Amino acid sequence: MRILSIETSCDETAIAILECESNEDAAKDTSTSTTFKVLSHTLISQIEIHREYGGVFPAVAKREHAKNLVPILGAALEEAELLREDTQSVPEDLRARIGEVLSRESDMAESFIQFITENNRPIIDAIAVTYGPGLAPALWVGVNFAQALALAWNVPLVPVNHMEGHFLVGLARTTESIDNKTVLTIDAPQTPILGLLISGGHTQLMLMNEWLSYQLLGETRDDAVGEAFDKVARMMGLPYPGGPEISKLAAKCREDEKSLEGTSEKLFSLPRPMIDTPDYNFSFSGLKTAVLYALRDIQKTRPEESAPLDTLEKEQLAREFEDAVTEVLIVKTVKALKETQAQTLVLGGGVSANPHIQKSFTKILSDKLPAVDFRVPPTGLTGDNGVMIGIAGFYRAQRKEFVDPGTLVADGNLSLSKVA
Ligand code: KG4
Ligand code: ZN
Repeated sequence: MRILSIETSCDETAIAILECESNEDAAKDTSTSTTFKVLSHTLISQIEIHREYGGVFPAVAKREHAKNLVPILGAALEEAELLREDTQSVPEDLRARIGEVLSRESDMAESFIQFITENNRPIIDAIAVTYGPGLAPALWVGVNFAQALALAWNVPLVPVNHMEGHFLVGLARTTESIDNKTVLTIDAPQTPILGLLISGGHTQLMLMNEWLSYQLLGETRDDAVGEAFDKVARMMGLPYPGGPEISKLAAKCREDEKSLEGTSEKLFSLPRPMIDTPDYNFSFSGLKTAVLYALRDIQKTRPEESAPLDTLEKEQLAREFEDAVTEVLIVKTVKALKETQAQTLVLGGGVSANPHIQKSFTKILSDKLPAVDFRVPPTGLTGDNGVMIGIAGFYRAQRKEFVDPGTLVADGNLSLSKVA
């Protein structure tokens, strides 16, 4: 099955085309192995644009997606060698239906019609699109674009939950490369599978009880982990997105400490919020406030108030913050592994790229739960991308979860779990 997938839930506009192959029953049978040949993996990040605002602005994200989707579709088809220029006639009634679906996307409608009249319909078996959760205005552009494309090409449309994309791509391993194209393989493990989904919008412990059926064990009560990284970075005067910046400073601090053989004094001490609560919930806004107070305290000692932190202070603060977050994530996740008996742990979401978090999990699992199979997304697929939506779309398409174009509704608060 060849799937074209579309992702616009936040600040990345992404389209991927995957050639998916497995036994007939991959949707049910957890022992099946499925391969996903990545024919194209295109992405335009809006990070540079949002950096000016220090975060993502929904209206700006929507405008950028609308501008990027048609060009990126062309690029994705070209990369997959599926782009064939040829004049096509679009019947009046079809043109009218497409116009209806794109009535709210006036910026995009004209270039969309132009594209489909100038290019042949490629051989694609299904179109997958993220319909939630995320920023509603951003989601809508992708949903409407996907609906218009499904109409234009007369291809089935399959809605995808963004969080399921993060979960499933975490299970994938890069197995080989064919004709310069990456091949990912998912040998669906035995359930239950525990997922720790950590991104800019979410922090969830999600249990896959049966293949593709989820139960939310706990989540953040306030800020998501990535959001906390971003906000703390902002307070420290670091650019958006703050996660990778803090991670680099913290790594430098650990390196320096090694060379000083632990003789340096610890300048900051932050709380580990909710680490001892008997549930699986998290809270990171208090941690962020603790950083604010720590910054204030240190500045009070300065002759000139609001003097910026020096490099050593920044490194130490970043390290203490990263340690606090990691410890809380580990304690709750290990508890959930023990209680659920899950033998596979998967990390997903942008924050799962964090090397310290990855290393700390590897270490604790080998010490305490060596039988647990620990998986992280393939490099480059931790943050939002089209490949993860194509993977989830494939499994959902196998279950024939198609919707009629024109009826799909974006849902910013969409949940993955039935037992919310
Ligand atoms: O999954 P993602 O790309 O978008 C959402 O769906 O939210 O996650 C983005 C988040 C941002 O908050 C970013 O700061 C964080 O992931 N992030 C990291 C790292 N790389 C990205 N956080 C910590 N360490 C990293 N290395
Ligand atoms: Zn995401």
